[in-house]
Amino acid sequence: MCGIVGYLGPRKAAEVLLQGLKMLEYRGYDSSGIAYLWRNQIKTFKKEGKIANLETVLPEAQAAHCGIAHTRWATHGRVNDANAHPHLSANGRVSIVHNGIIDNYHALKNEMIQKGREFKSETDSEVIAHLVEFYLEESITKDPEEAVRKTLARLVGTYGIIVLFTDHPELLIGAKNGSPLVVGQGDGEIFLASDPAAFIGSTRNAAFLEDREMVIIRKNEWITKTLQNEVVAREAEALSWSAEAASMGEFPHYFVKEVFEQPEAMRRALGHGGRLLPDFGTAKLGGLNMESRDLLDVKRVVFLAMGSAMYAAQVGAYLLESVARIPAQAEDASEFRYRNPIVEKDTLYFAVSQSGETADTIQAIQEVQQRGGRVLGIVNAVGSTMARICKGGVYIHAGPEISVTSSKAFLGQMTITALLALLFGRMRILSLSRGKEIIDNLMNIPQLQEIALQQSPHIHNLARKYIANKNFLYMGRGIQYPIAIEGALKLKEISYVHAEGFSSGGLKHGPLALVGPGTPCMFIITEGDSFEKVLGNMQEVKARDGRIIAVTNSDDPRVSLLADDVIKVPRTEELLAPFLTLLPLQLFAYYTAVELGVDVDRPRNLAKSVTTE
Ligand code: G6P
Repeated sequence: MCGIVGYLGPRKAAEVLLQGLKMLEYRGYDSSGIAYLWRNQIKTFKKEGKIANLETVLPEAQAAHCGIAHTRWATHGRVNDANAHPHLSANGRVSIVHNGIIDNYHALKNEMIQKGREFKSETDSEVIAHLVEFYLEESITKDPEEAVRKTLARLVGTYGIIVLFTDHPELLIGAKNGSPLVVGQGDGEIFLASDPAAFIGSTRNAAFLEDREMVIIRKNEWITKTLQNEVVAREAEALSWSAEAASMGEFPHYFVKEVFEQPEAMRRALGHGGRLLPDFGTAKLGGLNMESRDLLDVKRVVFLAMGSAMYAAQVGAYLLESVARIPAQAEDASEFRYRNPIVEKDTLYFAVSQSGETADTIQAIQEVQQRGGRVLGIVNAVGSTMARICKGGVYIHAGPEISVTSSKAFLGQMTITALLALLFGRMRILSLSRGKEIIDNLMNIPQLQEIALQQSPHIHNLARKYIANKNFLYMGRGIQYPIAIEGALKLKEISYVHAEGFSSGGLKHGPLALVGPGTPCMFIITEGDSFEKVLGNMQEVKARDGRIIAVTNSDDPRVSLLADDVIKVPRTEELLAPFLTLLPLQLFAYYTAVELGVDVDRPRNLAKSVTTE
C-alpha cells in the first residue's frame, strides 16, 4: 500500500510530484505529502485526506527541482497530518518517504530516542529518517550513500524508500525490498516511483529495481547497486504503455474507462490473435518456460489469488476442467500457507494478480516454492514482484489499471486461463475441430463486448430504478457462479451497497430466507445446461415477491415473463458467456455508485495493491 515518487530535473518538482501522486492515488489515499529542497532547507507539506487537500497548502512561488512525495494507506498510526509522509529527521538533514512495513521499528525507535532524537509521528517509517541522519552525522566522510546503506542493514521488513538530503541538493537515494520501485529516465530528468504510472506522462523509459537494491540518482544520471555496494548493470527499457492509457480521457472515472477498454484489453490478452494457433486449435504461450513433456506431466492445476483475481481464477478452473479435463481449483492465497498445504510434484500452480504485489499471493507463491513446487504467474504489472519470483508465466497486457477495483485486469485474467485451457486441452482430449471452434468464439468475443457495452444507458436507468435498495442478491450457476460473486463484490466495493453472490442452487439452502417482497435479485441466466434450473430458481424468488433483474443471452420468453427487468447480452457458447455477462454487472455497480455520489475510483478503506498480509 502507499505510493512514493521522487523527481530530480529542471521542472518545478512540486508540480511534477503532484501529478505523479495523482497517478498513484489508487495505492492509498488517506493522506499525502511532498518535500523538496528550497534554499538549502527541506520544505515539507503534508495533509490528511485526498491529494486535493495537499494542493491547497503548496506554495506556488517555490521552484524547487528535487523532491519526494507520498500517498498513504495507513497501517501504523492514525490518519492525520503528522503521520503523513515525508518524515523529517531530528536535525532536519534528511527526509524520507516509505512504502512497506518496518517490523523491528519499535526497537530501532527506542534506540534513536535514547540517542536523543525526537519523534513526531506514530509511524514505523519515521525511524528510517532518524537512522540515516544518525549514520550521516556519525561518519567522518558524511557519505549519504553509506548512511543509507548502514540504515538498510538495520531494517527488518519491507520497504520502497526515497531519501532526500539537505546537504546534497542534486541527489536522491532509493532502495527496495518487497515493495516495488522503478526508475523513469526522462529527457534531462529522472523519476523514481512505486509504479511507472507516476511518470508515464513524461517518459516510457523505465528500469525496475530488484529486492535489496539501491539506486543513486544524481543530475542526469543514475546507478543501481546492491546493499553490499556492488554496481548492478541496469538499463531503462521502453514500456509499451502510452500516457493516454494511464489517463481518464473523455471518461468521468477510471473505472468506467477501464470497463469500456475491455474489448481492446481482451484483444491484447489474446496477443491480437498472436497467442492463438487457429490451424492447430491451440495456444502458444512461450513465457511458461516449460517443454511439452513437462506440460503433459501436469496432473492438477491450482490457481492462487485474492479478491477479484480469485474469482477470475475460479472461472479459469472451470474452463480447464471442462475443456482440458484436468483437475483445477482456485484457492484463496491468504488461507493457503496457513493450512500446511500438500504440494505435489505434478501439480502446477499459477499466481493470478493484477498488481503482482499482493502480499497474500506472494506468501503463497513462496510457500509452494519452499515445498518444491513450480509456480507460474498470470500477472498484469510488468516487472512486478510476482513476475520476477515466478519461474515463468503469461502477462495479461491489460495496460495500466488505475481504478482501485479491478475490471479489465479481471477480464484479462480470465482470458489467459482460456488460453491455458486450449493449450492443456489440445495436449490431452480436446479435438482439433473443437479447439478451432473455441478459438473462433474467443476471437469474436471483443466485438460482442462492444455490443454489450451499448446497453450502458439502459443499465444506468436500472441503477436509478433500484437506487433505494440496500441489499442485493446475485446468483449464477456453473461457470456463471464466480461471475455472480464478482458482480456482488463490485457493487459492495464501489457503491457500499450490500450485495452477496451465491450459486443459484444454493438459494434454497439459506439465502432464500432473505427474499421478501421487493428484494432485488440479480440472476445470470445463459443458454446451456443450467438454463432450466436457473429458471426454476427465479420462480422461487418470484413466488416470494422478490424482484428479478435477469442478465441473459436467451430469447426464451419465460425469462422476460419472470424478470422485472432484463439486460440482454449477445450470444456465445456457454463456456465463454462469462466474458459477456460480467460487463453489465460492472456497469450496474458503476452507475449505482455514481447515483449515490461515491468516489468510484477510490472507495473508502480499500487499496489497489494490498502489500500487507
Ligand atoms: C485488492 C483490490 C482488488 C483485487 C485484489 C487482488 O483487494 O481492491 O480489486 O482484486 O486486491 O489484487 P491483485 O493485484 O493481486 O490482482
